[in-house]
Amino acid sequence: MPTTLATRVIGTDSAALAAAQRVLADGGLVAFPTETVYGLGADATDGRAVARLYAAKGRPAFNPLIAHVTDAGAARLLGRFDPAAERLAAAFWPGPLTLVLPKAPGCTVADLATAGLDTIALRVPAHPVARALLAAFGRPIMAPSANRSGHVSPTTAEHVLADLVGRIDLVIDAGPTELGLESTIIACTDAAPALLRPGGIAREAIERVLAVPLADGPPDADAAALAPAAPGMLDSHYAPRAALRLDPSVVNDGEALLAFGPGLPPGAERAVRVLNLSPTADLVEAAANLFSHLRALDRSGATTIAVTPIPHEGLGEAINDRLRRAAAPR
Ligand code: TXA
Ligand code: MG
Repeated sequence: MPTTLATRVIGTDSAALAAAQRVLADGGLVAFPTETVYGLGADATDGRAVARLYAAKGRPAFNPLIAHVTDAGAARLLGRFDPAAERLAAAFWPGPLTLVLPKAPGCTVADLATAGLDTIALRVPAHPVARALLAAFGRPIMAPSANRSGHVSPTTAEHVLADLVGRIDLVIDAGPTELGLESTIIACTDAAPALLRPGGIAREAIERVLAVPLADGPPDADAAALAPAAPGMLDSHYAPRAALRLDPSVVNDGEALLAFGPGLPPGAERAVRVLNLSPTADLVEAAANLFSHLRALDRSGATTIAVTPIPHEGLGEAINDRLRRAAAPR
């Protein structure tokens, strides 16, 4: 991979999308908005493009990626749907749901992109720009979050550039993403559908559609995909530079504070900087603010970010999952 590419930022008009489509067809890398976070796209059927993508992210090569497609029909060419998967696709696509399914016999996705697994992760994004790009390109686009491996996911084009300038060809700037939290990942590979990663659709909403409780997947999909090569290593996947301290009884000197809800913990006045995920305790607002607030507090120079508790319901499950990983020892 070249040491530096001239990364260009483009808009969302049809000329810009045509340029993005050409870069993808030439095996290049294009960061684009989805309703969850910005993704780093490559032609899913081109093994060399996928290899460049891993190199640009500095990602462990055996971590499988999500194939983004235009609709369930395109997804059915890549993965085998059982009745539960069909129900979930009908209820939540397009939207922030990823289904892990057994690969379909004619699956055209490069083996490297699924890390050689016999399963594939599929998602139909809802963002109009992602949809226009997929429709124009006409092939599945592999897209992990557009950050360097181990960093927090990008919710703006500026975040993408901060991590990947000089390493990718294009960034399509469509402003901040709406959800700010990655998709929920459900595996429909066994008898019981399992939650692999909490995300933009709450567990409760999925269980209502399935009318059964979700099984719990492996502790996290990254670790499962890597096991036994590097157990635990990816627990700190969503890490900012600063250490995180969850549920502080008091804020210490020199810490930054990531708050939630109307009240602040004792010692909050000592914090280097305070940001509130949602002063009104709205979990949707909190999810949208999570990664940008973590980045901003990281820039405050504090070595530790104290984080007040978030209720473990609805999107709170996914927010707590990202915070727990960011707080994991590394
Ligand atoms: O919202 C999202 O899902 C964003 C946007 C860009 O679509 N994408 C995203 O991709 O978060 P990424 O690569 O950062 O996370 C993909 C997750 C990883 O935890 C990976 O291990 C898991 O999906 N995954 C992919 N294929 C899998 C498979 N076959 N089995 C189990 N886990 C899988
Ligand atoms: Mg990611």
